[in-house]
Amino acid sequence: MSRWIDIAALDDIPRRGARVVKTPHGCVAIFRTHDDRVFALDDACPHRKGPLSEGIVHDQAVTCPLHGWVISLSTGLVQGPDEGQVATHEVKLKAGRILLDATRLLTRPAAA
Ligand code: FES
Repeated sequence: MSRWIDIAALDDIPRRGARVVKTPHGCVAIFRTHDDRVFALDDACPHRKGPLSEGIVHDQAVTCPLHGWVISLSTGLVQGPDEGQVATHEVKLKAGRILLDATRLLTRPAAA
């Protein structure tokens, strides 16, 4: 069962930008693409935990600001020669608001 949480208005996030939602279970980066699609990933690169929310958003991917790995916003998979995956979370838009499904966050142990 989904647990949708209203986290922000779409317009709170610039196009090709991101916003961080802090939860007791870790930070989640909410991304907005150039065409107003919204994605949510853990804000930690699978390489060395770089803050993906500070990366460069292009098409439906983000380039990590630390060492340049490229991560798909839809699957969380690393693209190109490197390997890895970051957890994704369901998001949806409703009447201009961004709703995050907190189900996966709530089933995780709290961040230290
Ligand atoms: S921490 Fe993201 S590429 Fe190294």
